Amino acid sequence: MAVREVLRMGDPRLLQAARPVEKFSTPELHHLVGDMVDTMRRLNGAGLAAPQIGVDLQIVIFELENNPRYPDAGKVPFTVLVNPVLTPLSDQMEVGWEGCLSLPGLRGLVPRCASLRYQGFDADGGPIDRRVDGFHARVVQHEVDHLLGILYPMRMRDFSKFGFTEVLFPGQDLKDD
Ligand code: NI
Repeated sequence: MAVREVLRMGDPRLLQAARPVEKFSTPELHHLVGDMVDTMRRLNGAGLAAPQIGVDLQIVIFELENNPRYPDAGKVPFTVLVNPVLTPLSDQMEVGWEGCLSLPGLRGLVPRCASLRYQGFDADGGPIDRRVDGFHARVVQHEVDHLLGILYPMRMRDFSKFGFTEVLFPGQDLKDD
């Protein structure tokens, strides 16, 4: 497995819709997921989507366990989610700060659906079906947006709440995105 280069905002590959995975449990899929995990953990990301490493497939991973970039967020179990489908569970929106490994050093305040159901598959084709809220719901929406070619600034409504992490949060020792 390997740490892969993460594409940065401006690369047109980040603006494309990704294709569904058709074959599960293959060596190629496990290898790709392994590279995604290595890349996310090396960069202290809370999540990563396959298009961010230039792979045009509907695969996202996420986890949050005492992540120094998100010190106030609750824990999120390590998840590999393939061909995801999101269903909002309420009309309520909430705003929260997000960063992205494709926009290193930046954070923005992004409105997201407060609670949702997500369905999909793990890398072996096992079904996943969860109802979540809080940061868990936020990270799923952020990562699944990558599969639609959407980056978080495209969801923002108040650009006065967009800036460099070290300026917005001085002295908090948040690691770079
Ligand atoms: Ni991102």
